[in-house]
Amino acid sequence: VDDRGRRVFDLSMRTGSKEFRPGRSTPTWGFNGDHLGPTLRAKRGERVLVNVRNELPEASTVHWHGMRLPARMDGGPHQMVPPRGRWSPAWEVDQPAATLWYHPHPHGATAKHVRRGLAGMFILDDERSADLKLPDDYGVDDIPVIVQDVRFDGDRFDDGQPLMSNSGSLGDRTMVNGTLAPYHEVRDEAVRLRLVNASSARVYSFGFADGRDFSLVGTDGGLLERPVGLSRLEMSPGERAEIVLRMRPGGRTVLRSFPHDGGDAWQDRFNGNDDSFDVLQLRAAGTLRDSPALPGELVRPGLPDGGDAVRTRDFGLRTSGINGREMAMDRIDFAVTRGTTEIWKVTNEDGVPHNFHVHDVRFRVLSVDGREPPPELRGPKDTVHMPGGRSVRLAVAFDGPADPDTPYMYHCHLLRHEDRGMMGQFVVV
Ligand code: C2O
Ligand code: CU
Ligand code: CU
Repeated sequence: VDDRGRRVFDLSMRTGSKEFRPGRSTPTWGFNGDHLGPTLRAKRGERVLVNVRNELPEASTVHWHGMRLPARMDGGPHQMVPPRGRWSPAWEVDQPAATLWYHPHPHGATAKHVRRGLAGMFILDDERSADLKLPDDYGVDDIPVIVQDVRFDGDRFDDGQPLMSNSGSLGDRTMVNGTLAPYHEVRDEAVRLRLVNASSARVYSFGFADGRDFSLVGTDGGLLERPVGLSRLEMSPGERAEIVLRMRPGGRTVLRSFPHDGGDAWQDRFNGNDDSFDVLQLRAAGTLRDSPALPGELVRPGLPDGGDAVRTRDFGLRTSGINGREMAMDRIDFAVTRGTTEIWKVTNEDGVPHNFHVHDVRFRVLSVDGREPPPELRGPKDTVHMPGGRSVRLAVAFDGPADPDTPYMYHCHLLRHEDRGMMGQFVVV
């Protein structure tokens, strides 16, 4: 904390190398270390200052995915930090407790920078989250789980796109927090996993190898009204979820990604939906500390319901661009008015796997293909999976700060699509 009461973080982006496999060193990029970055944590109401230094051989940015903050601090493609450069964004945390993350956002090169290892978690707390009896001992019963798929080409990461895939780079194995074949030793009855899909293109369908159910307690933008029991949870790139499961003394289970139906056999096969991965093994100690039962009620998420929406906008997703336009750095696509809510209707028009992410906001999914959304899409969201043919309606409230000159982004978070122009820009006025 500095003399102006701000919580200060130092992040330096640098090159490194890491032995993912014994005796084989892979060139990597990381924040403060060789690969990935430290977990940052702040409380609602706190002011935050991050001193970013770029020690990489090329320009990059750091974007705070899911954070409500002034557009100049957002770390999108307009806040480039040149090699040897510095950038010090500061803002006040003004949103509910949530699991967010940070990663570079240089236009055209996001996939490369994230895949080399530039990603980290940013946890937000608030008064209410501290009172709830959820597991919250970081690294003990409250575990960060950054999931990425990876493929090696000799000693290097293979960034190529498989021949028939149209979604982007796919790995042939997964890592958690940069570790292959990871396990965690559990010492408490209840464990909370903070899942981040930080992969560039892969969609996971998480569940447990022994078929057990788990409780979903939070999505992208924060905690749910109440825990929801699930056996599967689909997550596309950029999405987060907080789940809680209970272990028995001496028990073991494996967080697994299962094959899932994307609605098109060809797409499923070539874009990895038929694959299965053991993502994280959980090994319980012979005796476990008691954990309280999950509370029946968690929070009031305070999401817009769209009842007072001032207008509707349509977004047609195609690999070639959104609404027929490729991203252009010097074109603002539209302006929204601060303090208003809009309905955004998003449609996958070309049948290729996509998703849709909006900066600065927590939105509510009002409907999926005209029907009520499934429970995992009823909480606060900033990224929504858009498999072929899907159409969603979102209620988006713009209650953050205004700045007519600096845009926020909306885009497909499959990083190759984003890099190639599936992105647009809006300002809040
Ligand atoms: Cu996680 Cu615009 O990004
Ligand atoms: Cu973002
Ligand atoms: Cu896409």
